[in-house]
Amino acid sequence: MTERCSYAARYINRGQVSASATAFAPANIALCKYWGKRNRTLNLPLTSSLSVSLGTHGTTTTIEFSEHDTLTLNEKQIGLESTNASAKAFAERLWEYIDLFREPGECLAVRTSNTIPTAAGLASSASGFAACTKALNDLFGWQADDAALSRLARLGSGSACRSLWHGFARWNAGVREDGDDCYAEPFGSDWPDLRLAVCPVDTSQKPVSSRDAMNATVANSPLFRGWEACVTRDLCAIETSIINQDFERLGKTAERNALAMHATMLGCETPILYWLPATVDAIHQAARLRADGIPIYVTIDAGPNPKLLYQQQHEAVIAAQWPDAMLITPWSA
Ligand code: PMV
Repeated sequence: MTERCSYAARYINRGQVSASATAFAPANIALCKYWGKRNRTLNLPLTSSLSVSLGTHGTTTTIEFSEHDTLTLNEKQIGLESTNASAKAFAERLWEYIDLFREPGECLAVRTSNTIPTAAGLASSASGFAACTKALNDLFGWQADDAALSRLARLGSGSACRSLWHGFARWNAGVREDGDDCYAEPFGSDWPDLRLAVCPVDTSQKPVSSRDAMNATVANSPLFRGWEACVTRDLCAIETSIINQDFERLGKTAERNALAMHATMLGCETPILYWLPATVDAIHQAARLRADGIPIYVTIDAGPNPKLLYQQQHEAVIAAQWPDAMLITPWSA
């Protein structure tokens, strides 16, 4: 048994199997980012992180027993022999994940669809692996609790462990080598007027995956040494701002945390720069609006597409300044 297989086996017990199961999981955006692993096989992070989910935007996955393995993504069938590199990589990653849980000879039909418009350039691997984990839980009758599902989803994609809930989720890095204390939990309470806007700057496949960028940063960026201190400072400020519903502190901290993460990548032997001119424009534009008394902040993941944090009362400003932005209400579901 591989390390991943034996890890997964600790959290599941097959019960009453169903013919078919369907589950939804929301996408999430980290306000304090996960960047750097202490164990690449089990996706154990070096630092804790905290995210907010994207309401009804996420992934719905149906899995059923079948004669053959089939995988459909957004109505399109994808085989392991696909000539589309990103589709092939997705299929390989998903089947490798599902293989951790099924018995030899078991064939499955997997249908997965993202309710996030592809043009939004939002990572769907977090909601994808979380929805898949929930569907497998129902299909195989594991009756696993949320902490166990979070640990399992993490094996598919680190950030997927935060996509099991609506609202804020805090992923505890843990310290144990066996990863037992490494899972996410819901954090804080609802914040109904908090909003997010996703600005699609470039939605083509990124030149360096977040996984490769993260590993390169840990391996050869001297600036990564400062990252842990940034997270210690920012996570605490974000938690306090959520508890107090202090928007300006939340936004300011989330923005500096994202900029610090990108700074660590710039220190790589071969620097990784995801930003495009429109990414930098969004940062400056948000600063100009703040100077005019409108609190808008930016966060950016491993890609060029900025996400804006704002409050409901400033939605008209966002729509006017960023007409292509997708406006998201996290507490819509
Ligand atoms: O879960 P992964 O391996 O796709 O990495 C996610 C990394 C970031 O999106 C940049 C940060 C985060 O915490 O989601």
